[in-house]
Amino acid sequence: MAEPKRYGAIITAVERYLPDKIVTNHDFEQILDTSDSWIRERTGIVERRLLEGKPTSFMAAQVARRLLARRQLDPAEVELIIVATITPDMFFPSTACLVQDQIGAGRAWAFDLSAACSGFVYALATGAQFIESGTHRRVMVIGADKMSAIMDMQDRSTCVLFGDGAGGVLLERSAESGMGMLDFEMHVDGSGCEYLHMKGGGSLVPASHESVDQRLHYIRQEGRAVFKFAVIRMAQVSLSLLARNGLKPGDLALFVPHQANLRIIEATAERMHLARDKVMVNIDRYANTTGGTIPIALSEACEQGRLKRGDLLLMTAVGGGLTWGSALFRWAV
Ligand code: UT7
Repeated sequence: MAEPKRYGAIITAVERYLPDKIVTNHDFEQILDTSDSWIRERTGIVERRLLEGKPTSFMAAQVARRLLARRQLDPAEVELIIVATITPDMFFPSTACLVQDQIGAGRAWAFDLSAACSGFVYALATGAQFIESGTHRRVMVIGADKMSAIMDMQDRSTCVLFGDGAGGVLLERSAESGMGMLDFEMHVDGSGCEYLHMKGGGSLVPASHESVDQRLHYIRQEGRAVFKFAVIRMAQVSLSLLARNGLKPGDLALFVPHQANLRIIEATAERMHLARDKVMVNIDRYANTTGGTIPIALSEACEQGRLKRGDLLLMTAVGGGLTWGSALFRWAV
């Protein structure tokens, strides 16, 4: 059980932004040696959204504006903006800085957090610290990725898996005990870099004609290795976090897992002996939006009325790094 906290970090608003353009599995059939049935059966994905002509910060800023509107807040009331992304608009300044400017949050400081598909849960854990310590009252945590910017449209084993989208939450201070973020558990196994990475464009392989010719500016993944890792680790970290808080999966009202593959989600739920109706799934419509999956799914779950005050919520992710982690909340609104 975690130590009692000075303040609770509660989620007071959840929002999402998905681009309008829908790309179906059938669209991929036109350009690749793939099929709707292969993609559906292996991943659960039916379609995904793609953002055209705009960068990641556009989606993140849309989420930020919607969060402010939902809480009827002035941008000046936001103190910190964290954007979890692996597809920033540019290396620097951070996408969070661009969002801060776009929404006019003149008093906020801002930074990006890079943990691939675990980015949003990492950012939640990070943002909550500033609330719980009493230094901040309002922190925006946004997960946003334009995966189409790094998808290799000639690589059928990766490009069909991803989509573009963003979601986010507003974390606020609460004096009520036992509400909001209860605990989290985060992990890294850096030796897993070889299984999921984008090699080009950084200091290891700066952009050059050769790096472009070698298609190094795209995501590369050893799907089978990541799949096995994800199934084991997502269940393990979820059960570990629940157990150390004296809880069982049956105590959860909602489990929001990272949406990378329906088979990973189902295998995780099975290992946790979690009833299907407690597991949020929307991968069929959006595919894997990396930093976006969990807040997008959470926002849809809220809209469907799947959380009420006092409910226990668990969010769990695994991704490049390899990174994985889980965050446990008691819903407060
Ligand atoms: O969020 C970050 C974490 N990422 C993940 O969680 C992804 C984890 N991995 C996966 O979701 C799965 O491993 C994949 C969906 C990527 C692949 O499914 P799989 O059941 O592991 O298939 P596989 O990679 O073992 O490939 C099976 C076959 C191969 O053909 P051969 O070698 O058996 O002849 C692939 O070439 O399927 C072929 N294949 C495809 N066929 C049609 C791979 N991609 C496609 C495709 N369409 N798009």
